[in-house]
Amino acid sequence: MQQSSPSRTAEVVCLFRALEHQRRAPARILDDPYAQRFLGRATSTALRASRAAGRLAELPPRLSAGLATYVLARHRFMDDALGAALARTGAERVEQVLVLGAGYDTRAWRFAEALAGRPLFEVDFPSTSKRKEQIARRAAAELPATSVHRVQVDFLQETFDGPLLRAGFGRGARTFVIWEGVSMYLTRSAVKATLALVHALCAPGSELVLDFWFLLDAPDHRAAAHRFSANLLHLLGEPVLFGVHPEDAGAFLGRAGFALVDLADADALGARYVRDRRAVYPANFVVHARRDP
Ligand SMILES: C[S@@+](CC[C@H](N)C(=O)[O-])C[C@H]1O[C@@H](n2cnc3c(N)ncnc32)[C@H](O)[C@@H]1O
Repeated sequence: MQQSSPSRTAEVVCLFRALEHQRRAPARILDDPYAQRFLGRATSTALRASRAAGRLAELPPRLSAGLATYVLARHRFMDDALGAALARTGAERVEQVLVLGAGYDTRAWRFAEALAGRPLFEVDFPSTSKRKEQIARRAAAELPATSVHRVQVDFLQETFDGPLLRAGFGRGARTFVIWEGVSMYLTRSAVKATLALVHALCAPGSELVLDFWFLLDAPDHRAAAHRFSANLLHLLGEPVLFGVHPEDAGAFLGRAGFALVDLADADALGARYVRDRRAVYPANFVVHARRDP
């Protein structure tokens, strides 16, 4: 895992969202009009090339094998859960949002109206968080006003409760927690420690959305290619370390004090959100859970 330079995987998934913004609305899995602001030189070039060609540039299908579609569908799953949570009122009203490993997540702006002034806290490596902060500051006049607080932490080296509380996070408040595209890059103990911390910091009834990688166990070439593709992330400096099988997700989360509300694997994500023939990468799934009373 690289700490000194901004996360490359965060920029790649941001590119996927920027590319999706170029699709016609009916075929879009989601619309993120701010993603393109956070692209670097190589990813901006990829976006421009796709525009110039008048078509959507994607990774060669054999290489990506539905990864971009998975990334978009998990984002949409989490968007929908967040939108529903922010609309709750009374005793179920969400007081704050926490985005762990936020990368270039633009929900602070995309959900500015629904947040209605409620604070959103983003936690990430200093390198990624600072780059995002600089870009957001330069673009401030064109972004919706929102209450976003960035906290800079390495989950593998330190706990984030102190910095988060100092940034104004309300201990014991009802919280919606987003942990997207991160668990697979951490050790098992770091994942468990993070869940324990979320459990300790958030009120009963708080909600959590996250995704997991798992080892496809089919003995065919396709599954073998997917097992190999996870190792390719080593080349981006962010190797896949941790996984949970979908069958075990409920028990894993249950031991951490969270009850499973919803689970969507590749088939479910495809059925819910994909309106064209795009395939969804099969070795990941998304969950929505609720902190036990
Ligand atoms: C694949 S990106 C996902 C970014 C964002 N959640 C999204 O979906 O657009 C993974 C993110 O997790 C962050 N991350 C990974 N390991 C981390 C760690 N040990 N401490 C802090 N952040 C970490 C990376 O910096 C990066 O922003």
